[in-house]
Order: sequence, then structure tokens, then C-alpha cells
Amino acid sequence: MSDVSDMRQRLVSAATKIMEGKGTLSSPSETAGYLIDWRRRYRGEALAVMLPTSVEQVSELVKLGRSLGVAIVPQAGNTGMTGGAVPISDRPSMILNVSKLNRVRDIDSQNNSVIAEAGCILANLRETLEQAGKLFPMLLGSVGSCQVGGLVSTNAGGINVLRYGNMRDLVLGLEVVLPNGKIWNGLKVLRKDNSGYDLKQLFIGAEGTLGVVTAAALKLFPQPTNSGTAMVSLPSIQSAVDLLRVFADGAAGKVEAFEIISKGQLENVLSHHEESPPMPLSSPWYVLIELADSSIDWDPNQVFEQVLAGAVERGVIHDAVIASDSKKAGRLWKLRHTISEANMRKGFSVANDTSVPISKIAIFIEQVDKRLKQEFKAADVYYAGHVGDGNIHVIIVFDRAFYDTDKKREKAAARANFMVHEASVNLDGSISAEHGVGLMHIEELERFKSEVDLEMMAQIKRAFDPDNIMNPGKVLATSRIDAARN
Ligand code: MLT
Ligand code: ZN
Repeated sequence: MSDVSDMRQRLVSAATKIMEGKGTLSSPSETAGYLIDWRRRYRGEALAVMLPTSVEQVSELVKLGRSLGVAIVPQAGNTGMTGGAVPISDRPSMILNVSKLNRVRDIDSQNNSVIAEAGCILANLRETLEQAGKLFPMLLGSVGSCQVGGLVSTNAGGINVLRYGNMRDLVLGLEVVLPNGKIWNGLKVLRKDNSGYDLKQLFIGAEGTLGVVTAAALKLFPQPTNSGTAMVSLPSIQSAVDLLRVFADGAAGKVEAFEIISKGQLENVLSHHEESPPMPLSSPWYVLIELADSSIDWDPNQVFEQVLAGAVERGVIHDAVIASDSKKAGRLWKLRHTISEANMRKGFSVANDTSVPISKIAIFIEQVDKRLKQEFKAADVYYAGHVGDGNIHVIIVFDRAFYDTDKKREKAAARANFMVHEASVNLDGSISAEHGVGLMHIEELERFKSEVDLEMMAQIKRAFDPDNIMNPGKVLATSRIDAARN
């Protein structure tokens, strides 16, 4: 028997005991779907996929992995954008998928909080809370399949960060299984706690490299009772930044989302759905705006009419449509939420996730647009993203017929990423605003982050996980972790 199959057998037999005969997948047909990211860009290998149903089982499985020298790759909905949940490293690995840890443990209306396990699907959680009259405001394209553990571990953002913040702002407490197998119960619902280091923040955005998140205490908000949606067309991206300021000042605290889409991107998503445009496509930029509040006498459409009429007069926008009912609003938002899907259909798409200060968005887009269009002839360059977060996704859709091998595609993607990242960092930006580093951006992190940043990160990793057993090959290069000496 080979070393690998021997190790697989020992792992599976011990895991089967831990999980009382259920939840260990090891045959290729059972594991295939867990080994590849949803964009189908990274395919890994694992000895087995574990589907534990309790935090105690997670703890025992982590201890088992340690004792056998098998790396643990935490995975939730596997909808990440940078390959962070796929087992690709030089170590034999097991996937620890948290989907079966999917209970809502507590909804607490006094503390305005919920305790949800890591495998809760975001759409289900939002619906359960809506029935309880509460809002959990995280919202992004993969809402129907992404899970709490992944949202926490990638510090997800999405379209409502402008009003409610990203996961880092929405998490009150966490339960985590550490790389040594200990269970850390940090499920507090406190709004204030200055009793030492804020440990939960270390696990948020750590992409499973410091432990397995098994549950989270999350902040809740009142369900808005009045909401309105509008789409506007604009002459430039700077006009979008200017318009956001007008809304942010004029409807303070009520701007839920302010999402920009370039003309080419909108055309692509419309052709994907075979839908006719919601407004004439004669402008280079479009913004989707959502206003919402719970006050009885407040009318979002009145605000839209006032602000947008003024904006047309001043030439800040070209045109606007206000959704007359929630069905029409839903149709507009569907266009936004299916962008990644439409781009994947069209070609080999590479979505960047940089952020720059809001004041520098226009210059950033001007620079990357010029450079990318000069460099890549057989590609479309699109833009979509979150104006209020300075986080505009630069999306390059390469023609599959021209870039016809994996090697050509990877080379083009690496070059495009480098160009976008360089422009962003030169404008005081970040190479990743919300998608994380995962597998995809390890080298870029080495290139663009300061030595002091990287050293501190590697020291934290070594302090938690000296043997690099937890999601190796993600976020930090293994050589960087090995070099760190406490
Ligand atoms: C989005 O804003 O659409 C998401 O971050 C996903 C993506 O960039 O494709
Ligand atoms: Zn985004």
C-alpha cells in the first residue's frame, strides 16, 4: 500500500469514529466538488473531506490532523474569489467543511444579536432574521450559497458596507477551534470590551490560517420599512463620486448601497440574461442606488426625485430611472448580483479587488484603463463595484479563443493583476479590499506589502500555528512563515 493510501485509511478510520460513522467522504466522486473553487480556476487534492456536525467533532478532527501530520483546509460555502478554501499545498490535506454546522443558536432582540454557526447560508440566515423583524445587512452576489464561516474568514464586504460596515464591523464574538485543537469560546455579544487584545479580529480575514471559525455572534439592525432603488447614467466616474457625496450629505445614514457599473459590463450582464436595458445605454457609467429607512413619514422616492433632478440640471448625471415597485427594484439588483456569473460565461475573467481612497478613484480608473487596453488587445475591460468603499473591481475578460491554453491565461492574468495592483498601491491603495489573499495573491502580497507588515503577520501565524498545519499555502508564503523567528 502506498504512503498516501495508508495515510488516507488511517485518517478515514479515525475520523469515522469521531463522527460516529457519518460525514467522512473519501472517494473521488464524493470529494470532487469540494476540491475545486467555484470559478473552476484551482483544483486541489485531499485525502478526505470531513463534514462535522459539532464543534467538539471539529476539535477532535483538528487534533487528529495534527497527530497524523495532515494539514487542515477549512471550508464553508466555497464561493471565495481567491482559492483560499481549496487544498493546494505541498502537504497531505483534509478539507474540514463546516456546512453541517448550520444552526442558528440564538436570536437575542435585547442585545440585537444572533449567534449563527459557521455553516449557515447567508440567504437562509437573513430570511430567518427577517421573520424575527431583524436585519443582518451583509449582502453579496453569492448570498444563496456563501456561509457565515467563509464570510467571517474572508472579512467579506458586499454592497452594504457603505452603511453597515464589513464583517469586521458586524462580528461581536467568535467561537474558533485553534490549530492545537482547543476550543476558544469568544461568543460574547458585548458592544464594548477593552479587556486586552481584541482576539476575534485576528480570525476575521485570516482565511482559516489561524483556526477554524465554528460560530459567530453577529450584530443585527432594524428591518428598514421604506426603501427605494434608482439607476442613474453618468458622464464620468468622478460624477459618481460627486453624486455619492450629495446623497451621503442629503440622506445621511440612509444610503444602503451605491454601486457603479461600466457600460460594457452592463451590456454583458444584460446579454447574459437576454434582457432589454432599464434605460438607454448612451452613457459610459451607471450607478445603482438604494435608500432605506424605518421612519414612517420618510419617502425615498421623494429624496430621489429632488436630488436627481438637481443633479441632471448641474450635469452631474445624464438620466435616471426610479424603480416604481419592489419587483422592478429586484430586477435592477439582479443585474448587479449576476455580474461575476455573466463574465465567467463570456471568457476567462480576472476580477481584481483593489481599493484606493475615494478621492483617487477617478485617477486610478483612468490609469488602469489606459494601461490595460494598451497591453491586452483580445480582452474586454469592465468595472463594477463599491464607490463608497473606494473598491472598484477591475475586471478583465480575456477572449478564450485567443488565450487558448492555461499557461497563456495564467500569464495574462498575472500581468493584469500586477498592473492593477501597482496602480492601486502607488495611489495609497490595497491589492485586496474584500476578496482576500487566498492562494491567488501570495506573491503579490510579498511584492506590495511592507517588510514590517509581512514580518508581523508571519509572527502571528507562528504564534498560533507553529507547525503550519492550518490552511498552509494561503495568505502567507510558507518560506515567510519559516523565516519568522519569535
Ligand atoms: C462583487 O462586488 O460583485 C463581488 O465582490 C464579486 C466580484 O468581484 O466578482
Ligand atoms: Zn465586490
